[in-house]
Amino acid sequence: MKKFIIFNWKMNLSSLSRVRKLAELTQKYAEKSQNKAEIVIAPSFVHLSDLLKSRKSKSKVALGAQDVFWANPPAGGGAYTGEISAKMLKNLDVEYVVIGHSERRQWLGETDEMVNKKVLAAFKAGLKVILCVGEPTQSAGQRGLKHRTTRKRNIGWAKNYVQKQLERDLKNIPLNSRLIIAYEPIWAIGTGRTDTPENAAETARLIKQTLNSKFFILTPRVLYGGSVNSRNIAGFLKRPEIDGALIGGASLKKSEVKKILETTANL
Ligand code: PGA
Repeated sequence: MKKFIIFNWKMNLSSLSRVRKLAELTQKYAEKSQNKAEIVIAPSFVHLSDLLKSRKSKSKVALGAQDVFWANPPAGGGAYTGEISAKMLKNLDVEYVVIGHSERRQWLGETDEMVNKKVLAAFKAGLKVILCVGEPTQSAGQRGLKHRTTRKRNIGWAKNYVQKQLERDLKNIPLNSRLIIAYEPIWAIGTGRTDTPENAAETARLIKQTLNSKFFILTPRVLYGGSVNSRNIAGFLKRPEIDGALIGGASLKKSEVKKILETTANL
């Protein structure tokens, strides 16, 4: 099966010309990736429309939004100044939406209940959902350790955290929904520290089991995210449990994008 690579540009790239340039280059490198990967760029809302219009008809790169709001006017009411509905994205021809990114959960107070409402609204509008889950840094107690200096992680605690998050975020989703999960330990995002491929694969396996048994999703795709770059991506993608990567910082550097897509194609 093709690996899945999501480039999350976050709130970077404020100039439209830089946005267009990076999208063009990503598209060019994607063409050379010999159809070995499905590639999604998630730019900011304000650049989605421009990139959709300028996209070539046979583009190898899909576009995704970085968030969505849960109400859908007119039934959901229109009184949500500043928000973007799932129907608005769908009508624009946006294919994917990232929901529950830890930066939104941590800094903008997004709760599991809000994430769940967004997931349901996105499915209802026919968008493909990329749900982000992942555990925060563990305290020494959570790691079952007495000494703060020990860096060992308690993988059991992390898996339990992620499982609970999935159960809350996916409540009442339609049977056999097509869903992509990005497993991103919060301490690994933007820090230069990654999980080990072994731990990430073990958590990905648990996520797949939970999606199979609790949500009847038969072919879920689970990606790893958190400081992925051209040097470490192969270690993750070589694991059969890991279906791709969600990449932030490295997606902004053209040389990194080139190497990431070459590595993916040569796996
Ligand atoms: P990062 O971001 O690759 O910069 O750690 C990952 C993400 O977007 O969650």
